[in-house]
Amino acid sequence: MTDQIPVTISTENQVMTIAWNRPEKKNALTQLMYATAADAIKAAAEDDAVRAVLITGTQECFTAGNDLGDFLNNPASGEEAPVSQFLLAISTLEKPIVAAVNGPAVGIGTTMLLHCDMVVAADTTVFCMPFSNLGLCPEAASSFLLPRLAGHQRAAELLLLGENFDAQQAKECGIINYIAAADSYLALANDLVNKLASKPPTSIRMTKQFLKQGQDALVQERMRTEGEAFAQLLRGPEAREAMTAFMERREPDFSKF
Ligand code: COA
Repeated sequence: MTDQIPVTISTENQVMTIAWNRPEKKNALTQLMYATAADAIKAAAEDDAVRAVLITGTQECFTAGNDLGDFLNNPASGEEAPVSQFLLAISTLEKPIVAAVNGPAVGIGTTMLLHCDMVVAADTTVFCMPFSNLGLCPEAASSFLLPRLAGHQRAAELLLLGENFDAQQAKECGIINYIAAADSYLALANDLVNKLASKPPTSIRMTKQFLKQGQDALVQERMRTEGEAFAQLLRGPEAREAMTAFMERREPDFSKF
C-alpha cells in the first residue's frame, strides 16, 4: 500500500493537468483512479477557468492499463462503472485534451489516446493493446476509432496480435502527433496545451465540436457494445487464465479452451 495520491490534479494557466501517479505499479489504473480523473474532467467541463486538459503519467511510465487485480477480483461494468465514467468524460469533453506519454502505454493507456486531440510521445514509449492476449476484446471504441485512423489492416494487426509497438509505428497509425526525446516530451506537450488554452475559447470549442460531429453517437454506441462484450469476457475462463498467469508470473495456457 502507498499513501501517495494515485492521481494528481492541478490547474495552472487555465490548463488542468491530470497525472497518473502510482509508479510502483506502473500507474495501473484502479477504480479510484478512474473515478478521480472522471470527476476532474467533469469539473473542467463546467469551469470557465479551465480551457484545456493535459493527461500524463510519471517520469518513467504513462500507464500499464487497467489494474489486473481489479479485473480479476473487483470487475466493474455498466455505465456507472468508474472506467465508463472516465471514458464518457474524455470522449465528450468539448475542451481540447493533450496527452504526454512515455514508457508503457498499455491497454486503455493506448486507447484513451484515441479520445485526445493531440498526443506527444517520448521515443521510449511502448504502446500495446493486449486485449486478445488477455481473453478480452477492444474497449473505449478502439475497434471503431483505430481503423478510421490507421486503416483496417494496421488496426487488425495491433488489436488481433496485441503486440508491443513503438512511437514511430504509433505515429504512422495516426495515434500520436509528435515523438520527442524522453527529457523533452512533457515540455512539448505543455507548450501545445498552453497554446490551446491561450486561444479564443469559443472558437476552440466549436472547432473541436465540428471535428467530431458525425461520429459522437457512433463512438458512444460502440463503447456501449464493446463494454458489454468486455464485461462478459472478463468473467470468462480465458481472461481468468490470462490474468492469473500474469499474477503468477507464468505463461498462460489457452490450449484447453
Ligand atoms: N495491473 C496490476 N499490476 C500491474 C499492472 C497492471 N496492469 N502492470 C504492472 N503491474 C505491477 C506488477 O505486478 C509489478 O508489481 P510488483 O512489483 O508488486 O510485483 C509492478 O507493477 C511492476 O511491474 P513489472 O511487470 O515488474 O514491470 P516491467 O517494467 O517488467 O513491465 C509492463 C511493465 C507494463 C510491460 C508489465 O507490467 C505488464 O505487462 N503489465 C500488464 C499490462 C496489462 O496487461 N494491462 C492490462 C491491459 S487491458
